[in-house]
Formats: sequence, C-alpha cells, structure tokens
Amino acid sequence: MRNKICDQLNNSDIGQLVNLCGWVDRRRDHGGVIFIDLRDHSGFLQITINPNDGANLFKQAETLRNETVIMVSGIINERPKDSINKNLSTGEIELKVKDLQILNQIKNNLPFPVSIHDYENTKEELRLKYRYLDLRRGKLLENLKTRHKIIQVIRKYLDDFGFTEVETPLLTKSTPEGARDFLVPARLSNGEFFALPQSPQLFKQLLMVGGLDKYYQIAKCFRDEDLRADRQPEFTQLDIEMSFVSEEEIISFNEKLIKKIWQDILNIKLIDSFPRMTWHSAMENYGTDRPDTRYGMLLKDLGKVLGNIGFNIFTKAIQSGGSIKSITIKGGNESISNVRIKPGGDIFKVAQDAGAGGLAFIRVKGNELETIGAIKNNLNQNHISLILKVTEAEDGDLILLGAGNTQVVNQSLDRVRQYIAKDLKLIDKNKWNFLWITDFPMFERNEEEKRYEALHHPFCSPKNIKFENSKELKGKIEHSIANAYDIVLNGLELGGGSLRIHQAEMQREVLRTVGLTDNQIDEKFGFLIEALEMGAPPHGGIAFGLDRITMLILGVDSIRETIAFPKNQQAKCLLSNAPSNVSNSQLKELDIEITIDE
Ligand code: AMO
Repeated sequence: MRNKICDQLNNSDIGQLVNLCGWVDRRRDHGGVIFIDLRDHSGFLQITINPNDGANLFKQAETLRNETVIMVSGIINERPKDSINKNLSTGEIELKVKDLQILNQIKNNLPFPVSIHDYENTKEELRLKYRYLDLRRGKLLENLKTRHKIIQVIRKYLDDFGFTEVETPLLTKSTPEGARDFLVPARLSNGEFFALPQSPQLFKQLLMVGGLDKYYQIAKCFRDEDLRADRQPEFTQLDIEMSFVSEEEIISFNEKLIKKIWQDILNIKLIDSFPRMTWHSAMENYGTDRPDTRYGMLLKDLGKVLGNIGFNIFTKAIQSGGSIKSITIKGGNESISNVRIKPGGDIFKVAQDAGAGGLAFIRVKGNELETIGAIKNNLNQNHISLILKVTEAEDGDLILLGAGNTQVVNQSLDRVRQYIAKDLKLIDKNKWNFLWITDFPMFERNEEEKRYEALHHPFCSPKNIKFENSKELKGKIEHSIANAYDIVLNGLELGGGSLRIHQAEMQREVLRTVGLTDNQIDEKFGFLIEALEMGAPPHGGIAFGLDRITMLILGVDSIRETIAFPKNQQAKCLLSNAPSNVSNSQLKELDIEITIDE
C-alpha cells in the first residue's frame, strides 16, 4: 500500500512520486490550502492539498479529521523557506497530494487527543480503557520498543552462554511463592482446579533434573496479591536456572548480564561488582531487605540507651523483646516542623500507616535536647551524650524514634526514611545503586499461625547444613541461613534466587518445618521429592522482574507504563472489562454454582 514511510524521506526525494499511509495528526486550513501533518509509525510529513488540484480531492480533504486513516500519493516538494520546520526530520519537504483515499473515517469524538501537539495529561482510567489510542500517542510504543530491546539483549547474552529457552506450563499446580493463586477450573477433571503459576520454580528445577544444565524463560507469572505501582497480577519474569553452580557463580554471571543490559540500552557502564549486604545488616540499618542506599538516614538502635530511662513506652518495648530505633535528619530542625511529626501530621501518619503506634522526636539545639517532658525529664548527661553518639546527631538535627515490636519499628522507620528522602529531595536520581542482599534466614515465624514460613520459598537450601538424619537437623534448620540472594536497585527488589535443595530428605525436612505433614508433602510435592530421588544435580538460579527492570531503565513511576495491556489497581482490564461474568451453560459444564454472599 505504500512505497515509503515518513522517516525515510528527505531532500534527496524531492521530485519523486511516493505513496504513504498513516493517520491525520493535525489539519490546518490556510489561505485556501489544506495542510495536514501525516503521521505513521516512523514519523511525520507535511502534506498539502490545493483547491487547484481538483475539486473532488479538495472536498475529500475537507472531511479529514484528526486520526482519520488515509493513503496519499503525490510528489515530494521543497518547502518554501519561511515554512521550514527545523525540529522535524522531514521539515524541509512536503508532499503535494495528487490522490487521497480515506481508509477509515473517525466515527465519534476521540476520548482524548492523540497528537503530540495537543498532548494533555489524561486520567489513567481513560488511558487504560482506550489503550490503543494511548499507544498511538507514541510514548508507550517507545516504552514497548525499549522493553523489546532489553529482551533482545537478554536472549542474545544467554544464548551466547549456552542457555536454552524453554516454555513451562501455565495450567499447573500451585507453587508457594507467597501469594494467592489464580485458579482455573478443569472441565475434564470434575471439581478440580489448575493454578496459574506464581513462577516456573518447580518446572525449572525439574529441567535441571532432566539434564538441561542452563535454562531461561521470559515467563508470565500470576499472583493474586495487593497491587502497587511495581506489582501486577500478571507480570513477566526473566527466569534462570543452572546446574552444578555455586552461589558466587550465579551472582557474578547475573551481575554481568545486568551490566550488559545497562551498557547496551542506556550506554551506562556500571561498576564491576555490586556491593553486598547481609539480610541481617539490611534489616538492622535500613529496616528493610530492599534498602535504597542512595541516601543516608540509617536506622540506629537506641534500645540500650533508652530502654531503662523509665519512659513507659520505651520500657515496654524492650521488656517485650522489641526495639527502640531512630533516624537522624540532618538540619531537620529547620526543614521539618513539629506539626508534621506530631499526631495528625503527614510524617506521623506515614509511621502510623506502617503499623506504628506513634513517633517520638528529639531536636538537637546546641547542647540541649528538645523533646517531650516524659522523655526529657528522665535523661541525664550520660544518656544525652550516648544518644548523640549513637544517632550521630549534631546541632540543628532532628531525631525521629520508633519503639515497640521490632518488625513494626523497622517497617515504620523505613517508610518514614523513604518519605523524608523524597520530601527533602535527598535522592540523587542519577545513581544506579545495585545491591545484593545475601544470607536470608530460611524461615520467619508466623506468630498468628504459630508456624514457620519460608522467607523466599521452601526450595532454597540451607547454608552449611548437610543432611545426615532427620534428628540431627531438628532445631538446627529452623534458625538456619539460606543460600538465597536478592538483587535490589535503588530500593526496589529487581530479582531473587537461591541454590536449591537437591536432596529429597532435606526437601522433606524443610517442608515439614513449614508445617506440612508427610501426607501433605506427598500430595503436594510428591512429584518433586521423587524427582530429587532420581539423580537431581545441585542447581540454583534467579528470577528478575522484567517489568521492573524496564520501569527503572525507562525512569517511569509504574510498571503499567512498560506493559501493553496492564490491569488497573483493582486487577481489572478496563479495555476488555475482564474479569466478567460467564454464561450459566459454561458454569454448568464445569459443575460450578455461584452463590453471592449477602
Ligand atoms: P520472587 O518471588 O522473588 O522469586 O520473584 C522474582 C521477581 O519477580 C518480580 N515480581 C513481580 N513483578 C511484578 N508484579 C508482581 N506481582 C511481582 N512479584 C514478583 C520481582 C521479584 O524480585 N521463583 C523465585 C525465583 C527463584 O528463586 O529463582 C521467584 O519467583 O522483581
């Protein structure tokens, strides 16, 4: 239908007859001549229609609206000097139209303008409903192209190293990655369900048992969990698994892959080896296992200093096995008012939303500490100098304190730290602070259910523990460290992985530790245990969030900007209106009955 596209045209085409297809980006009528910016996927070209070129042609041109789809042919001319557009690659030429065909006329008014010239900030709901129009505006298409390039770099890199891409099933059995499953009823097995995979975890392990040696997959994963800017119910992982490798080998291989992506896509040379931090140290100093190390305000432990000064909340926190921790805001006396850190204030609320009962504060003013009476009255000179020493606070600084259950204190000070860093613009946006978090505990205690839960997933192997017999392991395994690692970039978890358990008895023991009975183990994971009994090699791997990598590379705020057709925050597709009701006959085939709980 066309012999050229817009961005192929330049001055060397003057005098040539060309056929082009595309959309009317804008129409301007000037002194009897109609000017149209024709847009195709590659760029723009100005086309002109003159009444002298035929009444019919002109009449047709008058019906063109923004986004009408057209096919034109004509001669490329030089533009008059005074209408040259230096900002456009085709700004020195125009097409004098000889023939115009309308391929598709616009029926209704558009919900929002598409042309870059009329660009307006459009509500995300509308952008999702009319995603194809939003795509046509260009920015999103560019994002998808960058995503495509990232995938090409990955595929080429992994192929060069002998990896094979293998697809694993989407209709499968639930794997515990910590979220709820999406279930699919199975018509042929009455009353039974498939689960959509939360990750290809077990299948990639089975590929190692099958002798594949080096696997990867650009894999769709499904998790029914609360959504955030960096979470979608359906997302994509770059999933990798290797046999006969050490943790060190996996980390350094994947570091090189990340460096290659940043080099090829952004032309940025990252440092040779990314810093590492143990999980314990991350929790202690940042209160989170995905610390943003682009700014300071580290958490300091004031338990020993303030635990017994006689202030009730502090005393209780320590007596019940909790913590008192703080962050220091340099110059905070000036930048942060009392209103913001007292009940009702925005910073107080951030702590509260993260579960904290409150937030205490100390202002350093010269040699004095200003704080509430109940704390101040109990401080002697020794306390004061210890506080200043631990918090590294000086004149003019503000210290914010949290006390109570350690997990809550960590979580709330982490959120407050992030909030203040944004608020006070302490984040250097040019930094790429990659960080490996290592030495995760195997398990965390779920106090409500009185049982251990795997911190990553129950297929990670424990560090430095060999299976001899079940008795030997008892009491050791619960508190062991896993051969597991996460990669964090600027405070966001990009990926995570581990060395896996490759021995059946150890696998059984770990599953027992998370509270499964032997019967449940056989029922849920019998196939895995059996495979491990038949010559499973030592193996390990990692999975990266591809949407998150793309989001960070593009510098956008949400992974929705990296996905062609994402769901909204309520996990709905506004374009197709999924999820939606199904017909009674479909339900009947599946023997499913819907009852609405009033
Ligand atoms: P994990 O659960 O840590 O590990 O997931 C790996 C990475 O996937 C991304 N991610 C998500 N991205 C968008 N939306 C979501 N809802 C979402 N959930 C996770 C994150 C995360 O770091 N099987 C293991 C990997 C392994 O052990 O090899 C796994 O899935 O970037």
